[in-house]
Amino acid sequence: MASLVSHPDEVRVVSRRFGQGATDIDRYIALDGYKAVRKALTMQPDEIISSVKDSGLRGRGGAGFNTGLKWSFVPKQSAKPKYILCNGDESEPGTCKDRLIFEHDPHSVIEGVMIAGLAVGAQAGYIYIRGEYRYLLEIMQKAIRDAYAKGFLGKNIFGSGRDFEIYWHGGAGAYEVGEESALMESLEGKRGIPRIRPPFPAVVGLWGGPTVINNAETLASVPHIVLGGAEWFAKLGPPKNGGTRLFCLSGHLNKPGVYELPMGYNLKKMIYDVGGGIPNGRKLKAVVPGGSSCPILTADEIDVSMDFDSMMKAGSMLGSGGLVAVDDTTCMVKFALRIMKFYQHESCGWCIPCREGTDWLKKTLTRFHAGAGVKKDIDNIQYLSENMLGRTFCPLGDAAAMPTISIVKKFRKEFEDHLDGKPCPFEKAGAEMAMAD
Ligand SMILES: Cc1cc2nc3c(=O)[nH]c(=O)nc-3n(C[C@H](O)[C@H](O)[C@H](O)COP(=O)(O)O)c2cc1C
Ligand code: SF4
Repeated sequence: MASLVSHPDEVRVVSRRFGQGATDIDRYIALDGYKAVRKALTMQPDEIISSVKDSGLRGRGGAGFNTGLKWSFVPKQSAKPKYILCNGDESEPGTCKDRLIFEHDPHSVIEGVMIAGLAVGAQAGYIYIRGEYRYLLEIMQKAIRDAYAKGFLGKNIFGSGRDFEIYWHGGAGAYEVGEESALMESLEGKRGIPRIRPPFPAVVGLWGGPTVINNAETLASVPHIVLGGAEWFAKLGPPKNGGTRLFCLSGHLNKPGVYELPMGYNLKKMIYDVGGGIPNGRKLKAVVPGGSSCPILTADEIDVSMDFDSMMKAGSMLGSGGLVAVDDTTCMVKFALRIMKFYQHESCGWCIPCREGTDWLKKTLTRFHAGAGVKKDIDNIQYLSENMLGRTFCPLGDAAAMPTISIVKKFRKEFEDHLDGKPCPFEKAGAEMAMAD
Protein backbone atom coordinates (compact mmCIF):
# COMPACT_ATOMS: atom_id res chain seq x y z
CA MET A 1 0.00 0.00 0.00
CA ALA A 2 1.28 3.44 -0.89
CA SER A 3 1.75 5.90 1.97
CA LEU A 4 -0.03 9.23 1.80
CA VAL A 5 1.74 12.60 1.83
CA SER A 6 0.38 16.09 2.33
CA HIS A 7 1.22 19.74 1.74
CA PRO A 8 -0.64 22.91 2.82
CA ASP A 9 -1.14 24.00 -0.81
CA GLU A 10 -3.10 20.90 -1.64
CA VAL A 11 -6.72 21.30 -2.66
CA ARG A 12 -8.36 17.99 -2.00
CA VAL A 13 -11.10 17.13 -4.44
CA VAL A 14 -10.32 13.72 -5.93
CA SER A 15 -8.24 12.80 -2.88
CA ARG A 16 -10.64 14.16 -0.26
CA ARG A 17 -11.62 10.68 0.88
CA PHE A 18 -8.11 9.21 0.82
CA GLY A 19 -7.27 7.69 4.18
CA GLN A 20 -10.93 7.99 5.31
CA GLY A 21 -11.93 4.34 4.99
CA ALA A 22 -14.07 5.05 1.92
CA THR A 23 -13.50 1.59 0.43
CA ASP A 24 -16.33 0.65 2.79
CA ILE A 25 -19.53 1.54 0.95
CA ASP A 26 -21.35 2.84 4.04
CA ARG A 27 -18.42 5.11 4.88
CA TYR A 28 -18.37 6.29 1.27
CA ILE A 29 -22.07 7.10 1.49
CA ALA A 30 -21.48 8.96 4.79
CA LEU A 31 -18.84 11.02 2.97
CA ASP A 32 -21.38 12.22 0.34
CA GLY A 33 -20.88 9.15 -1.81
CA TYR A 34 -23.45 8.23 -4.48
CA LYS A 35 -25.13 11.64 -4.05
CA ALA A 36 -23.80 12.81 -7.40
CA VAL A 37 -25.20 9.88 -9.36
CA ARG A 38 -28.57 10.33 -7.65
CA LYS A 39 -28.48 13.98 -8.74
CA ALA A 40 -27.40 12.99 -12.27
CA LEU A 41 -30.44 10.70 -12.48
CA THR A 42 -32.62 13.82 -12.17
CA MET A 43 -30.70 15.69 -14.88
CA GLN A 44 -31.06 15.62 -18.65
CA PRO A 45 -28.12 13.93 -20.44
CA ASP A 46 -27.25 17.18 -22.25
CA GLU A 47 -27.25 19.03 -18.95
CA ILE A 48 -24.64 16.61 -17.54
CA ILE A 49 -22.51 16.91 -20.66
CA SER A 50 -22.67 20.73 -20.65
CA SER A 51 -21.74 20.84 -17.00
CA VAL A 52 -18.70 18.61 -17.49
CA LYS A 53 -17.75 20.59 -20.59
CA ASP A 54 -18.03 23.94 -18.81
CA SER A 55 -16.07 22.68 -15.82
CA GLY A 56 -12.96 22.63 -18.03
CA LEU A 57 -12.19 19.04 -16.98
CA ARG A 58 -9.58 17.70 -19.38
CA GLY A 59 -8.51 14.08 -19.67
CA ARG A 60 -6.06 13.06 -17.00
CA GLY A 61 -4.78 10.11 -19.06
CA GLY A 62 -2.35 12.23 -21.05
CA ALA A 63 -3.83 14.00 -24.06
CA GLY A 64 -5.85 16.53 -22.05
CA PHE A 65 -8.95 16.53 -24.26
CA ASN A 66 -12.03 18.28 -22.82
CA THR A 67 -14.06 15.48 -21.26
CA GLY A 68 -17.54 16.92 -21.81
CA LEU A 69 -16.69 17.62 -25.43
CA LYS A 70 -15.55 14.02 -25.88
CA TRP A 71 -18.85 12.79 -24.43
CA SER A 72 -20.78 15.04 -26.81
CA PHE A 73 -19.37 13.13 -29.81
CA VAL A 74 -21.29 9.98 -28.87
CA PRO A 75 -24.33 9.66 -31.15
CA LYS A 76 -27.66 9.96 -29.36
CA GLN A 77 -29.20 7.07 -31.27
CA SER A 78 -27.32 3.85 -31.76
CA ALA A 79 -28.37 0.40 -32.96
CA LYS A 80 -25.54 -1.07 -30.88
CA PRO A 81 -25.12 -0.75 -27.11
CA LYS A 82 -22.91 2.09 -25.86
CA TYR A 83 -20.12 1.61 -23.34
CA ILE A 84 -18.09 3.54 -20.80
CA LEU A 85 -14.52 2.39 -20.25
CA CYS A 86 -12.42 3.41 -17.31
CA ASN A 87 -8.74 3.33 -18.24
CA GLY A 88 -6.81 2.23 -15.16
CA ASP A 89 -3.90 0.71 -17.04
CA GLU A 90 -1.55 3.34 -15.57
CA SER A 91 1.78 2.26 -17.05
CA GLU A 92 3.47 5.52 -18.01
CA PRO A 93 6.76 5.68 -16.09
CA GLY A 94 6.50 8.35 -13.41
CA THR A 95 2.74 8.02 -13.06
CA CYS A 96 1.24 6.39 -9.96
CA LYS A 97 -1.96 8.25 -9.12
CA ASP A 98 -4.83 6.06 -10.35
CA ARG A 99 -3.63 3.37 -7.99
CA LEU A 100 -4.37 5.68 -5.04
CA ILE A 101 -7.88 6.31 -6.28
CA PHE A 102 -8.53 2.57 -6.63
CA GLU A 103 -6.97 1.93 -3.25
CA HIS A 104 -8.74 4.66 -1.27
CA ASP A 105 -11.83 5.70 -3.19
CA PRO A 106 -12.95 2.96 -5.62
CA HIS A 107 -16.62 3.97 -5.42
CA SER A 108 -15.80 7.41 -6.85
CA VAL A 109 -14.68 5.65 -10.03
CA ILE A 110 -17.86 3.57 -10.11
CA GLU A 111 -19.90 6.74 -9.64
CA GLY A 112 -17.97 8.53 -12.39
CA VAL A 113 -18.54 5.63 -14.81
CA MET A 114 -22.28 5.64 -13.99
CA ILE A 115 -22.61 9.39 -14.50
CA ALA A 116 -20.76 9.16 -17.82
CA GLY A 117 -23.20 6.38 -18.75
CA LEU A 118 -26.21 8.55 -17.92
CA ALA A 119 -24.71 11.39 -19.96
CA VAL A 120 -24.22 9.40 -23.16
CA GLY A 121 -26.95 6.80 -22.78
CA ALA A 122 -24.74 3.79 -22.01
CA GLN A 123 -25.97 0.98 -19.80
CA ALA A 124 -22.67 -0.78 -19.17
CA GLY A 125 -19.17 0.16 -18.10
CA TYR A 126 -15.85 -1.63 -17.79
CA ILE A 127 -13.15 -0.76 -15.29
CA TYR A 128 -9.82 -1.91 -16.72
CA ILE A 129 -6.98 -2.12 -14.21
CA ARG A 130 -3.39 -2.97 -15.03
CA GLY A 131 -2.39 -6.53 -14.23
CA GLU A 132 0.35 -5.53 -11.81
CA TYR A 133 -2.31 -3.88 -9.62
CA ARG A 134 -3.76 -7.23 -8.59
CA TYR A 135 -4.37 -6.06 -4.99
CA LEU A 136 -6.33 -3.09 -6.33
CA LEU A 137 -8.45 -5.33 -8.50
CA GLU A 138 -9.60 -7.07 -5.35
CA ILE A 139 -10.58 -3.72 -3.79
CA MET A 140 -12.46 -2.79 -6.94
CA GLN A 141 -14.19 -6.17 -7.17
CA LYS A 142 -15.47 -5.75 -3.63
CA ALA A 143 -16.63 -2.19 -4.30
CA ILE A 144 -18.58 -3.34 -7.38
CA ARG A 145 -20.11 -6.25 -5.44
CA ASP A 146 -21.14 -3.91 -2.61
CA ALA A 147 -22.70 -1.44 -5.04
CA TYR A 148 -24.73 -4.28 -6.60
CA ALA A 149 -25.80 -5.47 -3.15
CA LYS A 150 -27.18 -2.00 -2.34
CA GLY A 151 -29.10 -1.84 -5.63
CA PHE A 152 -26.89 0.96 -6.94
CA LEU A 153 -25.86 -1.20 -9.89
CA GLY A 154 -27.80 -3.71 -11.95
CA LYS A 155 -31.50 -3.45 -12.75
CA ASN A 156 -33.50 -0.43 -11.68
CA ILE A 157 -30.60 1.49 -10.11
CA PHE A 158 -31.66 3.57 -7.09
CA GLY A 159 -35.24 2.59 -7.96
CA SER A 160 -35.03 4.86 -11.00
CA GLY A 161 -36.24 2.34 -13.56
CA ARG A 162 -32.82 2.58 -15.30
CA ASP A 163 -30.27 -0.24 -15.55
CA PHE A 164 -26.51 -0.05 -15.35
CA GLU A 165 -23.94 -2.86 -15.23
CA ILE A 166 -20.25 -2.52 -14.35
CA TYR A 167 -17.60 -5.15 -15.07
CA TRP A 168 -13.98 -5.19 -14.00
CA HIS A 169 -11.07 -6.44 -16.07
CA GLY A 170 -7.42 -7.01 -15.23
CA GLY A 171 -4.76 -6.33 -17.85
CA ALA A 172 -1.80 -8.59 -18.48
CA GLY A 173 0.94 -6.02 -18.00
CA ALA A 174 1.44 -4.24 -21.33
CA TYR A 175 1.91 -0.47 -21.54
CA GLU A 176 0.39 -0.46 -25.00
CA VAL A 177 -3.05 -1.56 -23.80
CA GLY A 178 -3.35 1.80 -22.02
CA GLU A 179 -3.81 3.20 -25.53
CA GLU A 180 -7.56 3.47 -25.90
CA SER A 181 -8.14 1.31 -28.96
CA ALA A 182 -5.60 -1.34 -27.85
CA LEU A 183 -7.48 -1.46 -24.55
CA MET A 184 -10.68 -2.23 -26.45
CA GLU A 185 -8.95 -5.01 -28.39
CA SER A 186 -7.69 -6.40 -25.09
CA LEU A 187 -11.16 -6.25 -23.55
CA GLU A 188 -12.52 -8.15 -26.53
CA GLY A 189 -9.99 -10.89 -25.81
CA LYS A 190 -7.64 -10.08 -28.67
CA ARG A 191 -3.99 -9.09 -28.83
CA GLY A 192 -3.57 -5.57 -27.43
CA ILE A 193 -2.63 -3.63 -30.53
CA PRO A 194 -4.27 -0.37 -31.59
CA ARG A 195 -7.02 0.08 -34.14
CA ILE A 196 -6.75 2.31 -37.17
CA ARG A 197 -8.80 5.48 -36.74
CA PRO A 198 -11.22 6.73 -38.01
CA PRO A 199 -13.69 5.46 -36.98
CA PHE A 200 -13.14 6.90 -33.52
CA PRO A 201 -14.31 5.09 -30.36
CA ALA A 202 -17.13 7.59 -29.75
CA VAL A 203 -18.79 6.17 -32.87
CA VAL A 204 -17.32 2.65 -33.23
CA GLY A 205 -15.66 1.41 -30.07
CA LEU A 206 -15.95 -1.66 -27.88
CA TRP A 207 -17.79 -4.52 -29.65
CA GLY A 208 -18.47 -1.97 -32.40
CA GLY A 209 -20.66 0.20 -30.16
CA PRO A 210 -20.21 3.91 -29.39
CA THR A 211 -17.73 4.11 -26.53
CA VAL A 212 -16.41 6.70 -24.12
CA ILE A 213 -13.00 5.93 -22.69
CA ASN A 214 -11.65 8.03 -19.86
CA ASN A 215 -8.82 7.83 -17.39
CA ALA A 216 -9.68 6.78 -13.82
CA GLU A 217 -8.80 10.21 -12.39
CA THR A 218 -10.94 11.93 -15.03
CA LEU A 219 -13.92 9.77 -14.09
CA ALA A 220 -13.30 10.17 -10.34
CA SER A 221 -13.47 13.96 -10.84
CA VAL A 222 -16.92 13.82 -12.41
CA PRO A 223 -19.05 13.23 -9.26
CA HIS A 224 -17.40 16.29 -7.68
CA ILE A 225 -18.35 18.41 -10.69
CA VAL A 226 -21.95 17.22 -10.57
CA LEU A 227 -22.20 18.06 -6.87
CA GLY A 228 -20.00 21.17 -6.68
CA GLY A 229 -20.99 22.68 -10.03
CA ALA A 230 -19.07 23.45 -13.20
CA GLU A 231 -18.22 26.99 -12.17
CA TRP A 232 -16.64 25.96 -8.87
CA PHE A 233 -14.53 23.29 -10.57
CA ALA A 234 -13.48 25.55 -13.46
CA LYS A 235 -12.31 28.24 -11.06
CA LEU A 236 -9.92 25.88 -9.28
CA GLY A 237 -7.58 26.13 -12.27
CA PRO A 238 -6.69 28.58 -15.05
CA PRO A 239 -9.05 29.11 -18.02
CA LYS A 240 -9.86 25.91 -19.94
CA ASN A 241 -7.93 23.85 -17.37
CA GLY A 242 -10.47 23.23 -14.65
CA GLY A 243 -9.95 21.52 -11.34
CA THR A 244 -7.05 19.95 -9.57
CA ARG A 245 -4.63 17.27 -10.52
CA LEU A 246 -2.98 14.40 -8.73
CA PHE A 247 0.66 15.21 -9.43
CA CYS A 248 3.04 12.28 -8.93
CA LEU A 249 6.38 13.61 -7.71
CA SER A 250 9.33 11.23 -7.97
CA GLY A 251 13.01 11.05 -8.80
CA HIS A 252 15.57 13.15 -6.94
CA LEU A 253 13.28 14.88 -4.46
CA ASN A 254 13.27 15.07 -0.69
CA LYS A 255 9.52 14.57 -0.41
CA PRO A 256 8.28 12.39 -3.26
CA GLY A 257 4.62 11.38 -3.33
CA VAL A 258 1.27 12.08 -4.93
CA TYR A 259 -0.05 15.58 -4.16
CA GLU A 260 -3.36 17.06 -5.29
CA LEU A 261 -2.71 20.62 -6.42
CA PRO A 262 -4.72 23.10 -8.45
CA MET A 263 -4.16 22.95 -12.18
CA GLY A 264 -1.69 25.66 -13.10
CA TYR A 265 0.46 25.27 -9.98
CA ASN A 266 3.99 26.55 -10.58
CA LEU A 267 6.43 23.77 -11.48
CA LYS A 268 9.38 25.33 -9.67
CA LYS A 269 7.33 25.60 -6.49
CA MET A 270 6.18 22.04 -6.95
CA ILE A 271 9.79 20.85 -6.98
CA TYR A 272 11.33 23.05 -4.30
CA ASP A 273 8.40 23.57 -1.95
CA VAL A 274 5.97 20.67 -2.31
CA GLY A 275 8.63 18.13 -3.27
CA GLY A 276 11.09 19.52 -0.70
CA GLY A 277 13.87 20.23 -3.22
CA ILE A 278 16.79 18.08 -4.33
CA PRO A 279 18.43 15.76 -1.79
CA ASN A 280 22.07 15.75 -0.67
CA GLY A 281 22.65 19.40 -1.65
CA ARG A 282 22.70 18.46 -5.34
CA LYS A 283 21.42 20.69 -8.11
CA LEU A 284 18.45 20.07 -10.36
CA LYS A 285 19.50 19.25 -13.90
CA ALA A 286 16.27 18.37 -15.69
CA VAL A 287 12.60 17.61 -15.17
CA VAL A 288 10.25 15.16 -16.85
CA PRO A 289 7.05 17.15 -16.29
CA GLY A 290 4.25 14.71 -17.08
CA GLY A 291 5.48 11.15 -17.58
CA SER A 292 8.32 9.63 -19.58
CA SER A 293 6.84 10.47 -22.98
CA CYS A 294 7.02 14.23 -22.41
CA PRO A 295 9.90 16.34 -23.74
CA ILE A 296 12.29 17.07 -20.92
CA LEU A 297 12.73 20.56 -19.41
CA THR A 298 16.05 21.91 -18.16
CA ALA A 299 16.42 23.43 -14.70
CA ASP A 300 16.18 26.90 -16.31
CA GLU A 301 12.80 26.15 -17.86
CA ILE A 302 10.75 25.30 -14.80
CA ASP A 303 9.21 28.63 -13.90
CA VAL A 304 6.06 27.54 -15.66
CA SER A 305 2.44 26.86 -14.86
CA MET A 306 1.47 23.17 -14.72
CA ASP A 307 -1.55 23.22 -16.98
CA PHE A 308 -2.04 21.72 -20.43
CA ASP A 309 -1.73 24.96 -22.40
CA SER A 310 1.22 26.46 -20.52
CA MET A 311 3.18 23.23 -20.75
CA MET A 312 2.54 23.08 -24.47
CA LYS A 313 3.85 26.65 -24.80
CA ALA A 314 6.92 25.65 -22.78
CA GLY A 315 7.62 22.95 -25.40
CA SER A 316 6.54 19.99 -23.33
CA MET A 317 3.33 18.39 -22.09
CA LEU A 318 1.40 17.96 -18.88
CA GLY A 319 0.76 14.34 -19.85
CA SER A 320 -0.35 12.04 -17.08
CA GLY A 321 0.99 14.19 -14.25
CA GLY A 322 4.15 12.17 -13.57
CA LEU A 323 6.88 14.60 -12.60
CA VAL A 324 10.39 13.14 -12.35
CA ALA A 325 13.17 15.37 -11.01
CA VAL A 326 16.68 14.61 -12.27
CA ASP A 327 19.73 15.86 -10.39
CA ASP A 328 23.19 16.80 -11.63
CA THR A 329 24.75 13.39 -10.89
CA THR A 330 22.66 11.89 -13.68
CA CYS A 331 24.12 11.04 -17.07
CA MET A 332 21.58 12.22 -19.62
CA VAL A 333 22.81 9.72 -22.21
CA LYS A 334 22.05 6.93 -19.78
CA PHE A 335 18.76 8.62 -18.93
CA ALA A 336 17.80 8.65 -22.63
CA LEU A 337 18.86 5.01 -22.85
CA ARG A 338 16.75 4.06 -19.83
CA ILE A 339 13.69 5.68 -21.38
CA MET A 340 14.34 4.00 -24.74
CA LYS A 341 14.73 0.58 -23.13
CA PHE A 342 11.22 0.97 -21.80
CA TYR A 343 9.69 1.98 -25.13
CA GLN A 344 11.59 -0.67 -27.08
CA HIS A 345 10.33 -3.29 -24.65
CA GLU A 346 6.75 -1.99 -24.78
CA SER A 347 6.46 -1.42 -28.55
CA CYS A 348 3.78 -3.80 -29.78
CA GLY A 349 5.80 -4.26 -32.97
CA TRP A 350 2.95 -3.58 -35.36
CA CYS A 351 4.47 -0.67 -37.27
CA ILE A 352 8.01 -0.44 -38.55
CA PRO A 353 9.07 3.08 -37.45
CA CYS A 354 8.28 2.23 -33.84
CA ARG A 355 9.38 -1.40 -33.80
CA GLU A 356 12.68 -0.81 -35.63
CA GLY A 357 13.20 2.77 -34.49
CA THR A 358 13.05 2.03 -30.78
CA ASP A 359 15.34 -0.97 -31.28
CA TRP A 360 17.92 0.99 -33.28
CA LEU A 361 17.80 3.81 -30.77
CA LYS A 362 18.26 1.43 -27.86
CA LYS A 363 21.21 -0.26 -29.55
CA THR A 364 22.83 3.04 -30.59
CA LEU A 365 22.39 4.59 -27.15
CA THR A 366 23.76 1.45 -25.48
CA ARG A 367 26.85 1.48 -27.67
CA PHE A 368 27.20 5.23 -27.30
CA HIS A 369 26.97 5.15 -23.54
CA ALA A 370 29.49 2.32 -23.41
CA GLY A 371 32.04 4.64 -25.06
CA ALA A 372 31.89 3.23 -28.59
CA GLY A 373 29.99 6.18 -30.07
CA VAL A 374 31.07 8.33 -33.01
CA LYS A 375 30.13 11.96 -33.60
CA LYS A 376 27.68 11.05 -36.37
CA ASP A 377 25.66 8.97 -33.88
CA ILE A 378 24.45 12.11 -32.15
CA ASP A 379 22.79 13.44 -35.31
CA ASN A 380 21.58 9.96 -36.18
CA ILE A 381 19.81 9.58 -32.83
CA GLN A 382 18.12 12.91 -33.46
CA TYR A 383 17.29 12.12 -37.10
CA LEU A 384 15.94 8.67 -36.31
CA SER A 385 13.70 10.01 -33.56
CA GLU A 386 12.41 12.81 -35.77
CA ASN A 387 11.54 10.26 -38.43
CA MET A 388 9.43 8.28 -36.00
CA LEU A 389 7.36 11.32 -35.03
CA GLY A 390 3.86 11.23 -36.49
CA ARG A 391 4.63 8.15 -38.60
CA THR A 392 3.21 5.42 -36.42
CA PHE A 393 -0.23 3.87 -35.91
CA CYS A 394 -0.43 4.99 -32.30
CA PRO A 395 1.37 7.64 -30.23
CA LEU A 396 3.80 5.18 -28.61
CA GLY A 397 6.27 5.96 -31.39
CA ASP A 398 5.95 9.69 -30.60
CA ALA A 399 6.27 8.92 -26.89
CA ALA A 400 9.65 7.30 -27.54
CA ALA A 401 10.83 10.01 -29.92
CA MET A 402 9.83 13.17 -28.04
CA PRO A 403 11.92 12.80 -24.88
CA THR A 404 14.90 11.58 -26.94
CA ILE A 405 14.80 14.58 -29.28
CA SER A 406 14.63 16.96 -26.33
CA ILE A 407 17.49 15.25 -24.47
CA VAL A 408 19.82 15.34 -27.49
CA LYS A 409 18.89 18.95 -28.20
CA LYS A 410 19.24 20.20 -24.64
CA PHE A 411 22.13 18.02 -23.45
CA ARG A 412 24.22 17.62 -26.62
CA LYS A 413 27.37 18.48 -24.69
CA GLU A 414 26.89 15.38 -22.53
CA PHE A 415 26.72 13.26 -25.66
CA GLU A 416 29.94 14.88 -26.94
CA ASP A 417 31.60 14.16 -23.61
CA HIS A 418 31.13 10.43 -24.28
CA LEU A 419 32.96 10.51 -27.62
CA ASP A 420 36.39 9.17 -28.61
CA GLY A 421 36.24 6.14 -26.35
CA LYS A 422 35.92 8.26 -23.22
CA PRO A 423 34.08 6.48 -20.40
CA CYS A 424 30.87 8.01 -19.12
CA PRO A 425 32.00 11.12 -17.20
CA PHE A 426 29.36 10.60 -14.57
CA GLU A 427 30.24 7.03 -13.80
CA LYS A 428 33.95 7.94 -13.91
CA ALA A 429 33.32 10.57 -11.24
CA GLY A 430 31.75 7.84 -9.14
CA ALA A 431 28.39 9.55 -9.17
CA GLU A 432 25.81 6.79 -9.07
CA MET A 433 22.72 7.10 -11.18
CA ALA A 434 19.55 6.77 -9.21
CA MET A 435 17.86 4.64 -11.85
CA ALA A 436 18.40 0.94 -12.09
CA ASP A 437 19.09 -0.57 -15.50
C1 LIG B 1 0.95 3.92 -25.47
C2 LIG B 1 -0.15 4.62 -24.73
C3 LIG B 1 -0.41 4.27 -23.41
C4 LIG B 1 -1.43 4.91 -22.71
N1 LIG B 1 -1.64 4.54 -21.42
C5 LIG B 1 -2.67 5.13 -20.74
C6 LIG B 1 -2.96 4.73 -19.41
O1 LIG B 1 -2.30 3.87 -18.83
N2 LIG B 1 -4.01 5.33 -18.79
C7 LIG B 1 -4.78 6.29 -19.42
O2 LIG B 1 -5.72 6.77 -18.82
N3 LIG B 1 -4.51 6.68 -20.66
C8 LIG B 1 -3.49 6.13 -21.34
N4 LIG B 1 -3.25 6.50 -22.63
C9 LIG B 1 -4.15 7.50 -23.26
C10 LIG B 1 -5.42 6.81 -23.80
O3 LIG B 1 -5.19 6.40 -25.13
C11 LIG B 1 -6.64 7.76 -23.81
O4 LIG B 1 -6.27 8.95 -24.43
C12 LIG B 1 -7.16 8.07 -22.41
O5 LIG B 1 -7.49 6.89 -21.71
C13 LIG B 1 -8.40 8.93 -22.53
O6 LIG B 1 -8.85 9.30 -21.27
P1 LIG B 1 -8.87 10.83 -20.80
O7 LIG B 1 -9.52 11.61 -21.89
O8 LIG B 1 -9.67 10.81 -19.55
O9 LIG B 1 -7.44 11.22 -20.58
C14 LIG B 1 -2.21 5.91 -23.35
C15 LIG B 1 -1.93 6.27 -24.66
C16 LIG B 1 -0.90 5.64 -25.34
C17 LIG B 1 -0.62 6.05 -26.74
S1 SF4 C 1 3.57 2.95 -32.55
FE1 SF4 C 1 4.54 1.16 -31.63
S2 SF4 C 1 3.12 0.52 -30.07
FE2 SF4 C 1 1.97 1.86 -31.47
S3 SF4 C 1 1.12 0.50 -33.02
FE3 SF4 C 1 3.08 1.11 -33.79
S4 SF4 C 1 4.48 -0.52 -33.12
FE4 SF4 C 1 2.65 -0.67 -31.89
